[in-house]
Amino acid sequence: MRKLPDSLVRLLIVIAGLASVVLCIRFLVLPRSLTDMELHKQSAVERELEKPIQFAGSGICQECHEDEPATLAAGYHSTLSCETCHGPAQAHIDDFEYKPKAPRQRDFCPVCHMYDPSRPTGFPQINPIAHNPLLPCIECHDPHDPVPPETPRSCEACHAEIARMKAVSHHVQLECKVCHEATNEHMLHPRAEKPTKPANREFCGSCHAEDSDTVATPHIDLKTHGGRYLCWQCHYPHFPEAS
Ligand code: HEC
Ligand code: HEC
Ligand code: HEC
Ligand code: HEC
Ligand code: HEC
Ligand code: HEC
Ligand code: HEC
Ligand code: HEC
Repeated sequence: MRKLPDSLVRLLIVIAGLASVVLCIRFLVLPRSLTDMELHKQSAVERELEKPIQFAGSGICQECHEDEPATLAAGYHSTLSCETCHGPAQAHIDDFEYKPKAPRQRDFCPVCHMYDPSRPTGFPQINPIAHNPLLPCIECHDPHDPVPPETPRSCEACHAEIARMKAVSHHVQLECKVCHEATNEHMLHPRAEKPTKPANREFCGSCHAEDSDTVATPHIDLKTHGGRYLCWQCHYPHFPEAS
């Protein structure tokens, strides 16, 4: 019989060595739970069951809390689970001394609501830098029923400069509505419906004419004062000055 070449013998020895190492590990070192598939599945289940439970699940909170689950279910956040915001709460149910965290800080809500072009169209998104900065979100939005508050309805909210000016003028006591009739529609859609503006000299004369019955109001002769010009061609009505 022809003798095998030495190089091949050496290769076979190496292969036999590797094979015996693999077999040793397989049958002598590895525990049975890793080599026997049935046993493997069973021990994985046992191992997972031994881990402490962290999340209590969405159904259990309402056993003790009535208001929040009812409010949540009826509002925009109905698809959110309590523990999405309050964190794992099983420890709380085991012992009330442990309080789940409540995310009151401003940086929490933008996790879902910060503008991100990959979010579906129509999903309510804001730019946290520009959207009412510095205040916590829950100052204006109820986390369990986050209805967006109505847009501001006061004249000052949109006409801040005029309001600030009037506040330090002789007309500080006069409400905007003394001189402008503004409908609710103007507050909602400012450009669709505009408030009225005083139209003539007689309007200002109702307080400032000599025959007007106002007290402590400087009076002028409506016929001659300022000629035929409109009063606000010389006096800015939101900051009237006499000189
Ligand atoms: C077995 C009754 C029970 C269950 C179930 C329960 N809670 Fe509570 N929880 C309480 C009680 C009682 C308090 C009030 C403790 C206090 O005021 O000292 C409380 C308080 C809270 C608070 C307020 C903590 C604070 O700082 O004031 C939060 C938030 C809360 N629970 C969330 C949850 C969530 C989320 C679940 C469901 C995963 C849940 N709870 C399930 C009984 C329960
Ligand atoms: C979108 C996030 C969010 C979800 C979802 C949410 N919460 Fe809250 N929860 C908050 C925040 C924020 C506060 C703190 C409110 C505050 O301080 O005014 C809070 C406060 C609470 C409180 C304390 C109320 C108080 O007067 O101190 C309880 C109890 C509570 N949540 C229970 C629940 C339960 C039960 C659910 C599920 C049905 C739930 N929450 C779902 C964010 C959430
Ligand atoms: C886990 C994601 C998630 C978190 C965290 C979250 N929200 Fe929401 N929010 C939603 C979803 C989902 C809706 C409903 C969107 C819809 O109806 O299309 C929603 C709706 C809203 C709306 C209604 C906007 C509108 O007019 O449609 C407001 C306001 C809001 N959330 C504020 C908050 C505030 C404040 C917080 C923090 C306390 C918060 N959200 C935390 C997911 C989240
Ligand atoms: C000073 C009050 C105030 C604060 C603070 C505030 N919001 Fe708002 N938010 C409003 C008002 C008013 C609206 C409705 C008008 C508008 O869209 O600006 C609104 C609208 C929203 C909407 C609906 C936008 C849409 O396109 O439908 C979301 C979402 C929202 N806010 C989330 C937040 C989050 C998140 C925070 C904290 C980072 C926050 N808000 C802080 C007053 C506030
Ligand atoms: C939501 C924002 C908003 C509120 C609230 C608001 N306004 Fe305006 N208002 C505007 C805008 C924007 C214009 C400018 C419209 C234009 O130039 O097309 C305007 C225009 C006006 C004008 C000028 C009309 C014209 O013909 O030139 C007057 C006067 C006025 N507002 C008075 C008021 C008074 C008074 C109130 C309170 C009762 C008020 N506004 C509340 C946004 C608002
Ligand atoms: C004493 C009467 C008077 C009061 C009070 C008054 N206005 Fe006017 N307002 C006028 C007159 C008159 C004009 C027209 C000025 C013009 O055409 O040059 C005017 C014009 C305006 C305009 C048009 C833009 C401008 O600056 O000319 C706005 C907006 C306005 N007023 C808002 C307000 C608001 C908001 C308040 C309350 C903070 C207010 N006004 C209070 C008399 C008044
Ligand atoms: C509802 C009454 C009322 C109406 C209408 C009114 N004013 Fe006046 N006005 C006053 C009062 C009150 C004062 C004085 C306040 C004080 O004592 O400082 C005053 C002061 C003034 C002054 C004097 C400022 C100074 O330096 O002494 C001028 C100018 C003036 N108004 C112009 C106008 C013009 C222009 C209009 C029309 C657009 C107008 N007023 C409409 C009540 C009114
Ligand atoms: C051509 C510019 C001009 C017009 C138009 C004008 N005024 Fe004057 N007004 C002045 C000047 C200048 C003064 C200060 C000197 C003075 O008292 O005559 C003044 C002063 C006043 C004073 C203060 C009087 C006092 O005794 O302190 C009132 C009030 C006043 N004007 C109201 C009005 C009213 C109301 C109208 C419209 C009917 C009007 N003005 C139109 C220029 C004008």
